[in-house]
Amino acid sequence: MFGKRSGSEPVFRPPVEPVARVAPSAGARDAAPAPPVAAPPPPRVEKPAAPQPAVAAVKPVRLATDTRSEDYYQIKSTIFNALIDTIDLAQLAQLDPDSAREEIRDIVNEIIAIKAVVMSVAEQEHLLQDICNDVLGYGPLEPLLARDDIADIMVNGANRVFIEVGGKVQLTNIRFRDNAQLMNICQRIVSQVGRRVDESSPICDARLLDGSRVNVIGPPLSLDGATLTIRKFKKDKLTLEDLVKFGSISPDAARVLQVIGRCRCNILISGGTGSGKTTLLNCMTAYIDAEERIITCEDAAELQLQQPHVVRLETRPPNLEGQGQITMRDLVRNCLRMRPERIIVGEVRGPEAFDLLQAMNTGHDGSMGTLHANSPREAMGRLESMITMGGFSLPMKTIREMIVGSIDVIIQAERLRDGSRRITKVTEVIGTEGDVVITQDLVTYEVDGEDETGRLKGRHIGTGIVRPAFWERARYYNLERELADALDKVNQ
Ligand SMILES: Nc1ncnc2c1ncn2[C@@H]1O[C@H](COP(=O)(O)OP(=O)(O)OP(=O)(O)O)[C@@H](O)[C@H]1O
Ligand SMILES: [Mg+2]
Repeated sequence: MFGKRSGSEPVFRPPVEPVARVAPSAGARDAAPAPPVAAPPPPRVEKPAAPQPAVAAVKPVRLATDTRSEDYYQIKSTIFNALIDTIDLAQLAQLDPDSAREEIRDIVNEIIAIKAVVMSVAEQEHLLQDICNDVLGYGPLEPLLARDDIADIMVNGANRVFIEVGGKVQLTNIRFRDNAQLMNICQRIVSQVGRRVDESSPICDARLLDGSRVNVIGPPLSLDGATLTIRKFKKDKLTLEDLVKFGSISPDAARVLQVIGRCRCNILISGGTGSGKTTLLNCMTAYIDAEERIITCEDAAELQLQQPHVVRLETRPPNLEGQGQITMRDLVRNCLRMRPERIIVGEVRGPEAFDLLQAMNTGHDGSMGTLHANSPREAMGRLESMITMGGFSLPMKTIREMIVGSIDVIIQAERLRDGSRRITKVTEVIGTEGDVVITQDLVTYEVDGEDETGRLKGRHIGTGIVRPAFWERARYYNLERELADALDKVNQ
């Protein structure tokens, strides 16, 4: 086909220049060409056969892969260029990943031998991995994508890649060769969902094969090269027990949440960006009975429900001609015709708020959703404005009554200034007084100070409520003793 497996055809054209000595140069990586990701592969041009270098005469080169020095990047780019000159990328693209890797491995090994680059087996393996990532995968992002401890990857142009680990954002030493390589990788990511990013449509949402959520905004809107934001998909989703272990919630407050989930309260999870709303929603779904029919509606499927009877729905953006969009509202309205017992909305951000509240009000108890807001009170304000902006000309009083009649509990998630994520409020919605919605906190989180490492110290405390408004509901599900006991402990 190509390379040395192409039968009669000359397979692999030995690169001309042997690497005699690596001269460290700051601009070496920038000089390398972009990997052949989006551009159509050039036709294979027969080049005049280069004289085979006399291997023994070439001065050996030492490779420092561990430090990823300029030398490393220069050697990599030399080998990479030789590889690109040699293989037929169109044919490579037709191979399955394992065969493609094998093909690249053989050719890279030959290039290394001809160029007399001296390196250990481990170094060679490392270089090969890197080159395969460039040709077949997401290039420099691959090692970050392979880690499960990273929450977000933020690429601000070719030279600055940040990650969030353990709640802290840190700069990495990962770099792209240049903006063109970064843009090519963005292109490769979004082409998987049938989209393109270019100057005429520089904004795009996409998803990686592992489920990670991706946003790309390219030039000219992004001034310093393409900006790529990836919310990593966590393979092992956190559970409420994990959140207790991390101190995000106290064990007793977690028991209150369990009762809230099991007795089918309608729940709204509120919080800022990246505060852990979706994670918490996923935790709360663990308390849904296995017999229930659950329908989830999301922009990008992130939830991982364990129950057997789940229907997962996902919105769809418009295509390049602006056609075919399916909004969250379309999904929520449709799922009312699908005999749901619980409806879970990944994120409520528009007129679907009205449909979700109606569903909650009309026999779909135990429905849940998340929403961006900084406090439970603000969350209710946001719901009101989503409904009014959705064009429903209802009096404010009616909207508020609707909210009160639908939402039982609001759980507030926050990312605190030390990077830790906490559940800072469990609040119930109890009624209206005149025009005003009345809520009461059951549990709040109080910060006491910080320890010597700068980590915030605090605790979850009860507000003294022993009979919340959903008491009767808990009784109906035979959970009132569990609730009383948990609230007792929280209030101590
Ligand atoms: N309590 C927690 N403790 C530690 N890490 C957490 C906690 N909650 C969430 N995380 C991690 O934080 C990251 C963001 O969480 P999540 O996606 O749930 O946030 P979000 O509020 O839904 O974000 P967005 O606003 O972008 O939708 C994830 O990697 C998740 O694993
Ligand atoms: Mg989310």
